[in-house]
Amino acid sequence: MTQLILGIESSCDETAAALIRDGREVVGSFVASQVDLHRQFGGVVPEVACRAHMECLMPGLDKMLGEAEVTPDAIDAIAVTNRPGLIGALLVGVSAAKGLAFAWDKPLIGVNHIEAHIAAARFHQPELEMPFVALVVSGGHTNVYYVKDEDTYELLGSTRDDAAGEAFDKVAKLLDLGFPGGPRIEKAAQKGNPKAYHWKNSCLPDDGVSFSFSGIKTGVLYTARGQNAGRKGPLLLNEQEVADAAASFQRAVVHALVTRTVDAAKARGVKWIAIGGGVAANSYLRGRMQEAAGRIGCHVAIPPMNLCTDNAVMIAVRGGELFRSACYDDLALEAFARTVG
Ligand code: KG4
Ligand code: ZN
Repeated sequence: MTQLILGIESSCDETAAALIRDGREVVGSFVASQVDLHRQFGGVVPEVACRAHMECLMPGLDKMLGEAEVTPDAIDAIAVTNRPGLIGALLVGVSAAKGLAFAWDKPLIGVNHIEAHIAAARFHQPELEMPFVALVVSGGHTNVYYVKDEDTYELLGSTRDDAAGEAFDKVAKLLDLGFPGGPRIEKAAQKGNPKAYHWKNSCLPDDGVSFSFSGIKTGVLYTARGQNAGRKGPLLLNEQEVADAAASFQRAVVHALVTRTVDAAKARGVKWIAIGGGVAANSYLRGRMQEAAGRIGCHVAIPPMNLCTDNAVMIAVRGGELFRSACYDDLALEAFARTVG
């Protein structure tokens, strides 16, 4: 018997829906990015995100079903991100999923967005062997997990302050590089000297497991705008110095992410590392992780860019796993801004 899962994602600034057959085949998928809407504000504005989700979700979903020539009776379950994320944004997806589940009389499945990012790696590389170590690194999270099996995620380390993606976004602002920060920093860094500024170890607290990205942010602020001017002070760097700062910042963040992940893989004796989340779209991180993992004999599962940034394929894949374990929710499903672990 084939299984068709509809996934819905609206936790931040991408509205997405996807249809996955048997956990393997993408039957339909759409992602509407709100990047252009939020650019004028220099960051994601929750109310703007909610409104855009409301406007885009149902028409996008309808169009996707039409193009895939799928009628509701062929769908086995509806999976939706219900945690963590911007609460209003989550509620748009959750309410839509509830409405569809009720109207079509289908099981409803709430999905943890972070587990879905990890599921994207499994989907992309089915040979990924359990247990493995996973790094989920996005605008909201910087977590290293020991993944024992599909349903057991042991949190080994996380950030003490900003998430890595958030740091990319804030530092890009400090360097007048615009929004979204990650891709802008990556581009600027290509022309910069990563050793120009000595920030390399500044994201690695002494405890050996966590991350911290607030110190380096202050370092960039002082370098870019001086010690006393604050964030609104004039930019003191020329184009080359901006590129050098971007490259040095990127090197420091990536060094921390790779060090913690590879150390965890070594300590746990796993053969595989998986990475996911928007920051995993960063080519420098992808390359460095492959190199460092290779040195300890580990393979790395890295989904393609479009499965690293937010999407609904990963929600439908994770939803499919829960469906197979009969982990259903009901119409009382709630949305949560945060999750523990
Ligand atoms: O997973 P995601 O799409 O949304 C969240 O769940 O947060 O991640 C978005 C984050 C943003 O902070 C963005 O700047 C960052 O991922 N990002 C990148 C790159 N592309 C996106 N960071 C570094 N380099 C990139 N190429
Ligand atoms: Zn995400």
